[in-house]
Amino acid sequence: MPRDDQASRLRRLIQEARDTRTIAICSGKGGVGKSNVCLNLSILLSAAGNRVAVVDADLGLANLDVLVDVGVVANLSHVVAGTHKLIDVVVDLPWGVQLVPGASGLAKMAQLSEFQRAQLLAELVTLEADNDIIVIDCGAGIGADTLQFAAAADNVVVVTTPEPTAITDAYAVIKVLTQRDFKGQISLLVNMVTDRHEARRTYERLADVARRFLGTTVLNGGYMPEDPKVKIAVRERKPFVLTNPQCAASRCLASMASKFCSGGSLVDKREGFFRRVANWLS
Ligand SMILES: Nc1ncnc2c1ncn2[C@@H]1O[C@H](COP(=O)(O)OP(=O)(O)OP(=O)(O)O)[C@@H](O)[C@H]1O
Ligand SMILES: [Mg+2]
Repeated sequence: MPRDDQASRLRRLIQEARDTRTIAICSGKGGVGKSNVCLNLSILLSAAGNRVAVVDADLGLANLDVLVDVGVVANLSHVVAGTHKLIDVVVDLPWGVQLVPGASGLAKMAQLSEFQRAQLLAELVTLEADNDIIVIDCGAGIGADTLQFAAAADNVVVVTTPEPTAITDAYAVIKVLTQRDFKGQISLLVNMVTDRHEARRTYERLADVARRFLGTTVLNGGYMPEDPKVKIAVRERKPFVLTNPQCAASRCLASMASKFCSGGSLVDKREGFFRRVANWLS
């Protein structure tokens, strides 16, 4: 490509990247429903007319592609290795969502060499130009490697269950983000509740502690009940918003999706999202 064309394409990429909204889904404790939220929320956002990509950023234990019955030939580990471009590993899901499969067993992002990390981030930047919303499935935990994507996002959705261990770990995530001077919005989604009262109690307790001890506002991101239909959909490798669009879990996510569709960007967009990730790591 002639140099001028390349420069103007880069300028366009950077310009478009500024308008992309990023939503990171994370949790302290594992197994609380992050990947299900990511996939199903992405489908709803796409159905609302957005160009959506979902990135499995859990570089140690990737599992988003297991939730959908699609063939994955290559993943982020191949991008890191330099054998594939991002475009070669992206899977077009049948519901208008682009899936970037994660890299099971890959060294943690923070442990990649500078060259590998730069290579990966440079490839991921291209996603921002092609999408309105990027939903990121972060791994569980509070390590620098898992929260790096969350720290650079517009919105972080912390998923918890009403169990005290999950709530304590969710608080730890909020604390680390606060210490990292997180500029976006944090919401709490309480999953696997018995009813809305339990969800409300869990949210209020955690939001109150975060406000008092960290000075951080945590928004109410809603809840999802414990629902056997979610488990059945997981076993069938089908998104529950499609198999059961009227179930409570689907309706909860629909209301969250509509909030993300309105509202502008929350963080400084002079740099694109993946550039902010790079800065956070340096
Ligand atoms: N609302 C729900 N009702 C019933 N079961 C649920 C619900 N949400 C999640 N599950 C169950 O919990 C399991 C774990 O969900 P998921 O894989 O989305 O969690 P995760 O947070 O991504 O886990 P990991 O930390 O291992 O990546 C699912 O396989 C499903 O069986
Ligand atoms: Mg997961």
